[in-house]
Amino acid sequence: MSVDPTTGRPDPAASGTASGGGAAAELAGFLGAHRSLVLTGAGISTDSGIPDYRGVHRRAAPPKPMTFQEFVGSEGARRRYWARSAVGWAAMAATRPNPSHAAVTELERLGLTAGVVTQNVDGLHRRAGTRSLVELHGDLALVTCLRCKTRETRESFQARLLELNPAFAGLRAERLPDGDAALPTGLEDGFEVPVCTVCGGVLKPDVIFFGENVPRARVEQAMRWLEGADALLVLGSSLEVFSGYRFVKAAVVAGKPVAIVNQGPTRGDAAAALRLEAGLGEVLPAAVALAAGGAA
Ligand SMILES: NC(=O)c1ccc[n+]([C@@H]2O[C@H](COP(=O)([O-])OP(=O)(O)OC[C@H]3O[C@@H](n4cnc5c(N)ncnc54)[C@H](O)[C@@H]3O)[C@@H](O)[C@H]2O)c1
Ligand SMILES: [Zn+2]
Repeated sequence: MSVDPTTGRPDPAASGTASGGGAAAELAGFLGAHRSLVLTGAGISTDSGIPDYRGVHRRAAPPKPMTFQEFVGSEGARRRYWARSAVGWAAMAATRPNPSHAAVTELERLGLTAGVVTQNVDGLHRRAGTRSLVELHGDLALVTCLRCKTRETRESFQARLLELNPAFAGLRAERLPDGDAALPTGLEDGFEVPVCTVCGGVLKPDVIFFGENVPRARVEQAMRWLEGADALLVLGSSLEVFSGYRFVKAAVVAGKPVAIVNQGPTRGDAAAALRLEAGLGEVLPAAVALAAGGAA
């Protein structure tokens, strides 16, 4: 780890990227020496083409995400949400896991993880074959009825969306985080939102909106994994959202080392025993391959 001599804190600018392969070797050393709880964020999916919220690569601030209260409280808000999402889903559905998702699955196969916890809603860890997985904020690939709790796949719901709104089938727009798309305002006027096929109730994507709590069972499962782990590995998260940051706090309280690989500052930097400022695609697959060699 590089330390800034004036602050005594890990110096992100001085570690990782400058040394290239050195960063991968450093990370491999950490991976091989611990059974880690892996916590991932939007940064692991940017190589798959999904934008993050607070990334160093962003040109403009993304729009404020819709809150749970807005979505539930207004038909107009739901129309706007689903109109934008009807366009954004096409790109989301075509997105594939990248080598970093595969590397996390490989790390699990090697027995070097105690579990994988993601803040992402893109389903890419699941699709990359990771088994012990908690998706803290849910999965965009499902929708749930707010009244009878029936679930429908997003694929089937998307077909119903486009059947009711055929003009949206061919629309293309800039991709935004969370399967959203930058639709010109006004275009959603007249957009028709399908209801639950069982009870006629309001459908919501099966993800946690801002203003909503993460289900307790998910947090408890993740905390149990942390108890059984001997380190925490954070991959591609600014840790600005508390539901992810809490695992750093819990690891520190338990005296477990924290490693963070992220481009740009994170809220956990001061607590990190290993802090690598690097693109995940450049270091993680290489580090896992090195750790696999060491484990063989
Ligand atoms: N893919 C998704 O499912 C997705 C995308 C955007 C936002 N979200 C939601 O937004 C919230 C945001 O929290 P967060 O901390 O996950 O995201 P965040 O946007 O706050 O932070 C992502 C971090 O990853 C870094 N990063 C981007 N690409 C990287 C790369 N290739 N290698 C290394 N670092 C990279 C960014 O610079 C940034 O610091 C979460 O609640 C999540 O549910 C999800
Ligand atoms: Zn219903």
